Amino acid sequence: MSVQSSAQTPASNSTPPAPAGGPAATREQVVQNAIREISHIATLPEITLKIVSIVEDPSSTAQDLHNVISKDPALCTRILKVVNSAFYGLPGQIGSINRAIVLLGLNAVKNIAIAASLAKLFKGGQLTPTFSAKDLWTHSLAVGTATKLLAEQMKIGLGDEAFLAGLIHDIGIMVEMQWDRNRLVEVLQKATATPGADMLAIEIQVFGATHQDFGSSLSERWKFPKSFTTVIGHHHTPMELPYDQRTMACMVFIADRLAAEDPKNGFRQDVVNLDIPDDVLESVRLTHEDLAQVRAKMPEAIKVAEAVLG
Ligand SMILES: [Fe+2]
Ligand SMILES: [Fe+2]
Repeated sequence: MSVQSSAQTPASNSTPPAPAGGPAATREQVVQNAIREISHIATLPEITLKIVSIVEDPSSTAQDLHNVISKDPALCTRILKVVNSAFYGLPGQIGSINRAIVLLGLNAVKNIAIAASLAKLFKGGQLTPTFSAKDLWTHSLAVGTATKLLAEQMKIGLGDEAFLAGLIHDIGIMVEMQWDRNRLVEVLQKATATPGADMLAIEIQVFGATHQDFGSSLSERWKFPKSFTTVIGHHHTPMELPYDQRTMACMVFIADRLAAEDPKNGFRQDVVNLDIPDDVLESVRLTHEDLAQVRAKMPEAIKVAEAVLG
C-alpha cells in the first residue's frame, strides 16, 4: 500500500487518532487500520468486483463480461439507460449489453458498469448542515461529467474512463464516514468554521491522513486499475505526479473546481479556492477558452448523468 505525500498535508504534521492506530501510529498505519476496519462495509458489489477482474484479465472476452452483467437485470437496465442516453449520443436504441459492447468496446462497458454500481455506496444521512453522502454523490456525478467533457474537449477519447475517475475521486471521504463519522463531522465543522481553511490539513489533524490517502488505499484494495488509484491519491496535488502520469489527475483537479463553481453541484468543502493554475492547464494543453466551452456544456450534461445514474 502506498500513502501519497502532499505538499498541502505534510506527513510530519500528522496527529493520528488514538483509538485506531495508537498514539504513535504513522499516516500509513492509520490508513491501513481504516481500510481493514471498514472492509466489511466498503465492499464493492460482488458483481462489480467480477467486472473489474474480467477486464483486467487479458484473456477474457466480451462474452465473459456479458455473462456476468446479464446475471443482474437491474444493472443491465442501468447500463442500457446510460448507453442510450444523451450521455453517449449514440443514434438509435441499443437493446442489449452485447450490442453495447460491440459499439462501445469492452473497456467502456466495464467503466459504465462500475459507474452504474457505485451509487449504492454513497449512503448515509445528513452528517452536518453542509454534508451528506448524497451531497457527495451529487458532487461526484458533476465532477465525473466535467472530467468526461474535458476528455472530449481534449479529443483524447477515454470519455468513460474520465467519467469514472471523476466519479470516484472523493471516495476517501466515504471511507472516513464509514470508519469514524464523528471525526468526519469534526473535520467538516472545522472547515466550515474557518473560511479558506484547507480541509486536507484539518483531516491530517483529526484523522492522521487525508481522503486522498484513504481513497487511494481503498482503490488498491478493490484492485482498481493503478491509474484510478493515482488519480484518487493526487486529485488535489496533480503536479506532484511525474509528468507522464498526471494527465487524468489534472483533469479531475480542473473538473473538481469547475463543479465547485456552482453550489447546486453538492459537496465542495475540500476545494479551498476555485482558481485553476496555468501550469495545470498547460499540462493537459487546455486553454481558458476550452474551459469556457466545457463550463457551458456542464449543466445539461450533469442533468443527463443524474437522470441515468443519480
Ligand atoms: Fe477531494
Ligand atoms: Fe471533489
